Amino acid sequence: MKKIGVIGLGMLGNAVALHLLDSGFDVTVYNRTKEKTMQIKEKGAKVASSPKELAENVELAIIVVKDADAVKQVSFEKDGVIESKNEKLVVADMSTINPSESKNISKIFLEHNIQKLEIPVMGGPNVAITGDLVMMASGDKNTFENCKEILYNIANKVFFLGESGVAHSVKLAMNLQITMLALALSEGITFIKKSNVDPKVFLEILNSTYFKTGMSEKKAYKMADGKYNATFTLANLKKDISTITETTKSLGIKLPMIEKAEELYEDALKKGLGEIDYTGIIEYIKRINESK
Ligand SMILES: NC(=O)c1ccc[n+]([C@@H]2O[C@H](COP(=O)([O-])OP(=O)(O)OC[C@H]3O[C@@H](n4cnc5c(N)ncnc54)[C@H](OP(=O)(O)O)[C@@H]3O)[C@@H](O)[C@H]2O)c1
Repeated sequence: MKKIGVIGLGMLGNAVALHLLDSGFDVTVYNRTKEKTMQIKEKGAKVASSPKELAENVELAIIVVKDADAVKQVSFEKDGVIESKNEKLVVADMSTINPSESKNISKIFLEHNIQKLEIPVMGGPNVAITGDLVMMASGDKNTFENCKEILYNIANKVFFLGESGVAHSVKLAMNLQITMLALALSEGITFIKKSNVDPKVFLEILNSTYFKTGMSEKKAYKMADGKYNATFTLANLKKDISTITETTKSLGIKLPMIEKAEELYEDALKKGLGEIDYTGIIEYIKRINESK
């Protein structure tokens, strides 16, 4: 496979497409808002005018859009992927969506003789640009084997997890971790600032212990400085938190912490914080304390 398509040039999709281009693949892109295709076109990518046109000209079409509705839109609506007559096409969805929605989407593709893999990832644009994402994959094993070379180009670790839906279940459990870590750091930093201790001292001590994480070693310093340039927006994490709580209902389990986190992230969205980084939830904690 040499001809790859990327549908969705948001923060993640753009970085994935740039990396594929740098790696020598023949890359075609599509984005709903056409202006976002300009930069990558200058670097050599072809720009399709619709998901259908893209699907007709590639062997693997990677979808990286906001949510399940967006995946269905680019896949099944007018001029969507499914209208292509490309018999060799494989679709791989990197968007973070509900596992049951994902299964249904795979089923519809299969009814049209199109194989679809689920390839949600951990890591943002900063690591996507060098092909260092961590990928969870599910779907048909043979299709996965055929696409392996490209998937290992995008990610330095790829976990094949089995039948359709599973990769998204694991991805949601990952984003549950991210949510709790961002909140724990936000509350710890707020607590320590109010106690007149330099948050960098707190982080240095935390990062000298078993309880350190990538987030406490990197993003936490920006959080302490009030810098929230988005690599993954707060609005998109809220979307994933809501997908987790929907999924817990269908699993018949109660997870009280993520329910509480949903309320906090929902309120942060109402306060206009949706477009900052998800770690900017510390700004929300700051504001609720200021308004006391
Ligand atoms: N950023 C990360 O670190 C990261 C990491 C792992 C997973 N993810 C997941 O990857 C996906 C993309 O994330 P992102 O950070 O790249 O998001 P983003 O920057 O907000 O971009 C969203 C993309 O989805 C497209 N889109 C939204 N609604 C659409 C619709 N109805 N029809 C067609 N296209 C639509 C947008 O097109 P327009 O430009 O036209 O709005 C844009 O290309 C999300 O599911 C996210 O949860 C992100």
